[in-house]
Amino acid sequence: MQTDFLVIGSGIAGLTYALKMAKHHPDKKILVITKTQADETNTKYAQGGIAGVMDEAKDSYSKHIEDTEIAGDGLCNNHVVEIVVKEGPERIKEIIKYGAEFDKDEKGEYSLGREGGHSEYRILHHKDVTGKEMERALLHEVEQTHNITLINHCFVIDIITQHHLGFLVTKSTPDITCYGVYVLNLNSNRIEKILSKITLLATGGNGQAYRTTTNPRIATGDGIAMVYRAKGRIENMEFIQFHPTALYEPGESPSFLITEAVRGDGGILRNKDGEAFMEKYDERKDLAPRDIVARAIDNEMKKAGTEHVYLDCRHITKESFIHHFPNIYEKCLSIGIDVTKQMIPVSPAAHYSCGGIKTDEWGRTSIQNLYACGECASTGLHGANRLASNSLLEAMVFGHRAYKDSADKISALDFKNDIPDWNAKGTSDPKEMILITQSVKELQQVMSDYVGIVRTDVRLHRAMKRLDLLFTETEDLYRSTRVSPQLCELRNIITVGYLIVKGAEFRKESRGLHFNTDHPGKSQLLQNIIL
Ligand code: FAD
Ligand code: SIN
Repeated sequence: MQTDFLVIGSGIAGLTYALKMAKHHPDKKILVITKTQADETNTKYAQGGIAGVMDEAKDSYSKHIEDTEIAGDGLCNNHVVEIVVKEGPERIKEIIKYGAEFDKDEKGEYSLGREGGHSEYRILHHKDVTGKEMERALLHEVEQTHNITLINHCFVIDIITQHHLGFLVTKSTPDITCYGVYVLNLNSNRIEKILSKITLLATGGNGQAYRTTTNPRIATGDGIAMVYRAKGRIENMEFIQFHPTALYEPGESPSFLITEAVRGDGGILRNKDGEAFMEKYDERKDLAPRDIVARAIDNEMKKAGTEHVYLDCRHITKESFIHHFPNIYEKCLSIGIDVTKQMIPVSPAAHYSCGGIKTDEWGRTSIQNLYACGECASTGLHGANRLASNSLLEAMVFGHRAYKDSADKISALDFKNDIPDWNAKGTSDPKEMILITQSVKELQQVMSDYVGIVRTDVRLHRAMKRLDLLFTETEDLYRSTRVSPQLCELRNIITVGYLIVKGAEFRKESRGLHFNTDHPGKSQLLQNIIL
């Protein structure tokens, strides 16, 4: 298969790029591939909304910039923050044109929500299912666009570079180039190669590296792992954001999110004794940035020996709660919790990867003709901690920027035609799936127990030793077994786990989401950890 533009991922980042490119180049083919169903993405599960300064008379770019940078704890790239905040509203207007609906008040103005770390009400939302609405609008627009082909159940194994032509490629090779990808096409059950002139990775996050996560099954950091294997640059992987309030429901995976917007509407965190504890930790109380709230909850749980705290919404009227959060109301009711009478048990869960594939301000990676945007990318927006509801915004801004930068490059590019077919010699069908499923569990256990909200040098060291063993066992399996999505995903989350631990080991300080009790202060040296 050959395509001018190959987009890997059908979430907000990939679809934004694909739509823009398709409209710009109506004569060119844009291929979007996705590993399960098109709408099974982190995007679909987004609840709270998308941050944007829609009316400068009521809010200001400078305040949104300041809030983003305060959350980022010194590591945001100021230029990128300014780009995202200032270009974001235009991108929001575009998705509204595609048909996405955001809630309005009785005056017909956007009803804006507020979340942790925001100094203003600036979050557009669609009830508590904003991502579902945005994904719907994007997919609908894709269906109407004649030159986009979307293939579901097509699992990308690796990106193709000079390495596959037999050349030695190292981190210092200056011109590593992407020629396309090898995919396991689950529709034909064959490994195929797709040659492309420009490739965009929009593969999303990696919450599945942890036992408790808000991320769906697809979030296994595939794009990040592929770029690392291809010797591209990855940065700031130690900054894993734990959402403070996932519904505590043992055995359920992924964890159901209780959006921060509930705290924006007055929800109060309480410990097992009913104490509203956040005022002990931060003057912004329940609406402090996520790293602070998640650590406070972790501390309260450890002190009391409990597995959760509570979110108290009993003072919010039933009408108001159901109006704003119908999905959460129904979910809680389905497990026997009437939020108007009972407190909601909540605990932190891995939620978002602030680091990822290093990109510049146009979404270019360190590999030629390869772009990345959305959660898999590290653009410099989030620094050490992402401000709530900035992720959907970033994905659209960089989907647009990557399109702008790559649209006209195509005329100077050709397909690389001498790429060998996938070599499956010496492999046989997997005999025991338990070898894979058990390793996934072990990896998640190690990451949750040793590389969670609070870290220490000893825990990180231990995690690395366990990961080494898992890596060796999995590479043996990979060499001898016919590839499957499960095996590839295991391989990818082990790589992501390694990158998180490595980044955490290098960072000898506590900053933003990375908190190491052996290095409690902040270093004077502001640096991104590039692996
Ligand atoms: P995704 O939407 O995750 O899409 C990834 C795509 O890549 C999928 O199509 C997947 O199939 C594909 N893919 C991955 N690997 C492969 C492979 N190997 N081969 C082929 N295809 C592959 N952010 C906000 O700004 N506001 C919110 O309110 C908000 N709420 C959230 C609530 C929840 C529960 C979660 C989980 C996240 C939330 N976020 C929120 C974060 C935000 O939703 C994500 O960061 C964002 O949607 C990521 O978009 P994306 O396009 O980068 O990736
Ligand atoms: C939420 O709704 O609390 C999630 C928002 C986000 O992750 O940005």
